[in-house]
Order: sequence, then C-alpha cells, then structure tokens
Amino acid sequence: MRRCDGARVRRCEGASACLFALAMLAFGGGAARAQGPGLGTPVSEAEIAAWDISVMPDGSGLPPGSGTAAQGAPIFAAKCAVCHGASGKGGPNAALVGGAPLTSGIDTTKTIANFWPYATTLFDFTRRAMPWTQPRTLTSDEVYALTAYMLALNGIIDDRDVMNAETLPDVRMPNRDGFVVRFPEKTP
Ligand code: HEC
Repeated sequence: MRRCDGARVRRCEGASACLFALAMLAFGGGAARAQGPGLGTPVSEAEIAAWDISVMPDGSGLPPGSGTAAQGAPIFAAKCAVCHGASGKGGPNAALVGGAPLTSGIDTTKTIANFWPYATTLFDFTRRAMPWTQPRTLTSDEVYALTAYMLALNGIIDDRDVMNAETLPDVRMPNRDGFVVRFPEKTP
C-alpha cells in the first residue's frame, strides 16, 4: 500500500502533465460528459458498404460482374484445390461436389448439391469466407466464376452458363424445397 502511494507521488512530482491532467478532470470532465465520451468517429456510407455484403436468396446484394465455369476452373486450381482437392472432390477440407441423398436425415453429410437451397448463398459464402486463409480477397468476377464452376461440377448448370446478378438467383438448387420456412412473412 505504502509503496503504491509513493509511486503515485513520485510520478506526479514536478510533472506539469500531472497538473494538466488534474485540471482536465476538474474542468474538462463536465463538458466532455455533457457531449458524450467523444470516442470514435462517425462511420461513412462507404465504410458501411464495404461490410454490407450479404446476398439474399432473391439475389439482392449481388454486385456487378460475371463469370463462367471455364473461367472459374483455373482460379479454383490456384486458390482452392489445395484444401478442397482437384475439381472440388475433397482434400484436407470438404468435398464441394456430390453428396449422398439426405436419407439419413440429420446424420447425412450435407453438401452444396444435396443441401444448400439457394445458389446465391454459394456466392455469398465464397466471397465472405474463402479462401479460408485469405477471406475477402477475391474480385466479384472471380467469385461469379468460382460459383459457376462449383455449380457446374455438381451438374446444376452448364459449363458455358454465365453467372451474374440476373442469372444466379434463377439457378434452382436440388434441395430448394427441402426446408420448412418458420417465418414465411419475414422471407422475401
Ligand atoms: C486453407 C484451406 C482452404 C482454402 C484454400 C479454401 N477453403 Fe473453402 N473451406 C475450408 C474450410 C476449413 C471449410 C469449412 C468451413 C466451415 O465449415 O465453416 C471450407 C468450406 C467451403 C465451402 C462450404 C462447403 C459446404 O458444403 O459447407 C465452400 C463453398 C468453399 N469452402 C469454397 C472454397 C473456394 C471457392 C475456395 C477458393 C477460392 C476455397 N474454398 C478455398 C478451407 C479452405
């Protein structure tokens, strides 16, 4: 206790900073409290936009850009195959192709082809989360191309189909009707 007091006195001795701090407490504190703590800066629209990247099932939120499976193949080989295997067949991490029918219910391994209800989610997830070690480094064209590639590998679209903000929401996923909507009035 005594040592603590001593340290405080020593630090203040002869220090004009100490007097200034006391003055701030005595006089400045009231004004600062009236205006709020004065922390941070207002967030700009541009800063919000950078984080506002959710894509909805109806395609709202999809950015401009486009891509095909053919364009996605080399990007996948360079940035994804190390974890997901050649042609998405599975490696250290999940296979992105195929999947058993959901006959074992909750115990079935869920995949893009047997489970995901919306193709737009593939775009959203890839853009925000992949590559695992460098999320949010892909351009919109790259994400469209990779999304097209994964859909084509699963036989859901054709190799030459162009994916963009108009075409992607129209892609019908095999398990589209496999879900019960709990709050239909809140679903677009
Ligand atoms: C360093 C390893 C790594 C790399 C590289 C990587 N991923 Fe992944 N990926 C993962 C892991 C781990 C998961 C599981 C994440 C989870 O469950 O939250 C995953 C999950 C996914 C899923 C969801 C699969 C499902 O059925 O739930 C998709 C789609 C995907 N990755 C696409 C990609 C694409 C496209 C690329 C290349 C741009 C990529 N990944 C690169 C590790 C990686």
